[in-house]
Amino acid sequence: MTNTERTTALITGANKGLGLEAARRLGALGWTIFLGSRDEGRGKAAAARLADAGIDVIMVPLDVTSDASVTEAARLVGEHTGHLDVLINNAGAPGNAVPPADATADEIHAVYDTNVYGPIRVTHAFLPLLQAAEHPRVVMVSSAAGSFAVVTDPDQPVSKLHELAYSSSKAALNMITVRYAQALPRIRFNAVTPGETANHTFAATDMNHHTGRLTVTEGTDSIVELATAGSDGPTGVFVDRLGPIAW
Ligand SMILES: NC(=O)c1ccc[n+]([C@@H]2O[C@H](COP(=O)([O-])OP(=O)(O)OC[C@H]3O[C@@H](n4cnc5c(N)ncnc54)[C@H](OP(=O)(O)O)[C@@H]3O)[C@@H](O)[C@H]2O)c1
Repeated sequence: MTNTERTTALITGANKGLGLEAARRLGALGWTIFLGSRDEGRGKAAAARLADAGIDVIMVPLDVTSDASVTEAARLVGEHTGHLDVLINNAGAPGNAVPPADATADEIHAVYDTNVYGPIRVTHAFLPLLQAAEHPRVVMVSSAAGSFAVVTDPDQPVSKLHELAYSSSKAALNMITVRYAQALPRIRFNAVTPGETANHTFAATDMNHHTGRLTVTEGTDSIVELATAGSDGPTGVFVDRLGPIAW
């Protein structure tokens, strides 16, 4: 089957949290949603809920840390469509907030495998489908914790949260976003953070044990904004729902 009419989007880690909410919101626009989930059972349950709400959704088994899984996901999506309009690299791992003195390369590697190598694996595998789209967009779901400006601001709580893996992985993802944007100008590559950086807020999800003060709908505002941006939209920027934030 070839789908050439609807806008198509793949979202990684879309079985819950911000990924699922982004799937719901973009699906409600009439888009075809490829819902990535590393666990088939959780993915099928999430996709069934969206389908019940009238959304055109296809569950795609996708573990971003596995080359084989990502390759198979690209093959599966390619069976349904000849182009991918939007890729949202959302899947993320928080790490264990290990203090820098105790951090090991193994712990950091595991977080990088999801947060850094994952988006590269997925982007690389889906580039042919993205390049076949008229106006392709890639949204990297980063974090304010990956911003040097935020982490070095003593007023930001994250400046006192001592760890290496998560913040440095998102800083790497930010640079990767900029480098893709520069090298591939026909594809809009942007980084977003789901919180309100100026207000020190983030969205309540499992990742933060639901301590966030924003809803998942508010948390996905920046994702939806850049996923739906027009062909004259930005590339190589870093924003939250209130606007651009410093790298
Ligand atoms: N919540 C916030 O305010 C906030 C702030 C800054 C950044 N972020 C970023 O937002 C993104 C989404 O996080 P969230 O808050 O929605 O957390 P969440 O509810 O814990 O969702 C994380 C998602 O990532 C998936 N995932 C983890 N490892 C994966 C892998 N190897 N392959 C595929 N999927 C994987 C999880 O799947 P399972 O269900 O199988 O574990 C889950 O679907 C992350 O990149 C996070 O760093 C969130």
